[in-house]
Amino acid sequence: EKEDGDLFSKSFQDIISTLPKGNSWGFPDHLLQYHGFWHSSVFLQGILSAQQQFQAQPADIILCSAPKTGTTWLKSLTYATITRTSYDDSTSPLLSKMPHDVVPFMELDHAHFSTHRHLGIPVLATHMPYSALPKSVTDSGCKIVYICRDPKDSFVSLYLFVSKYQKSQNMQTFNLDEAFEQFCQGECWYGPYWDHVLEFWTASLEHPDKILFLKYEEMSDDTILYVQRLAEFIGCPFSSEEEEKGVPEKIVKMCSFENLSNLEVNKNGKHRVGGTENANYFRKGKVGDWENWLTPEMAARLDQITMQKLSGSGLTL
Ligand code: A3P
Repeated sequence: EKEDGDLFSKSFQDIISTLPKGNSWGFPDHLLQYHGFWHSSVFLQGILSAQQQFQAQPADIILCSAPKTGTTWLKSLTYATITRTSYDDSTSPLLSKMPHDVVPFMELDHAHFSTHRHLGIPVLATHMPYSALPKSVTDSGCKIVYICRDPKDSFVSLYLFVSKYQKSQNMQTFNLDEAFEQFCQGECWYGPYWDHVLEFWTASLEHPDKILFLKYEEMSDDTILYVQRLAEFIGCPFSSEEEEKGVPEKIVKMCSFENLSNLEVNKNGKHRVGGTENANYFRKGKVGDWENWLTPEMAARLDQITMQKLSGSGLTL
């Protein structure tokens, strides 16, 4: 197995040496462009490894998203929904574990797991674009849930997440205007953002039974309704008895920003060795906070790009 690993890392080095290099957002490593999307080399290695090794099963549920669009929230809602016959809102592992610890990332946590899946529940998350998903995910017929968000809020969330991380590492923080320019150019982790969204949107129109397409704003507006849709989509709809008992409401409350962000584990923990503080995944959890960070000109520019990119798709953001 060690030899396989060495071979993999050699061929990985061969691949990355040929890829276009982009900006680095103030980090030592430049982003690399692979099949139209920008990645850090660590994530890219995970993607290639998952493409080679991950064997999806028909019962799997893959949570997909571009970074900072509500991944943590979607993970917690899906986990709580799928485990509701084993746990309730006073016993759920979500009360003592960070959502990223109960639903791992395919290209990070599971990248080198070879044939061992080790999924406690058949739910896994990824930031990979649709076109990069391991073939077995699209072939196995497993379910995909995608969440997206207004790019203005996604950008602000991403910029502040990166800045906080850089501060925690005593690095110089990246400049907001420069980050904005990179985001507009599509140069950010898993970007261009719009291409990421569009790939999943198009696929969801082609396979509505396989891909559930969600928007952060709509979920914020009526979380209970969307948790019901989610439960139905992943094959475990709430029974009328559960509805009467208020189970969907309890799940929504347990997974709310207010509740999760105030848990000890999410206030003071770290979910990966040397990784980002859990608190960094819970900033404000509001729709429209971009107004506090972007000038009207910046907002108009992002809106313009969004309009242009999504024109004719039937999707609005
Ligand atoms: P803000 O930075 O705008 O607050 P991701 O999980 O994809 O990394 O996205 C992070 C964004 O989701 C952050 O947005 C974070 O605050 C928000 N978020 C985290 N948990 C949430 C929850 N339970 N409900 C709503 N939003 C949440």
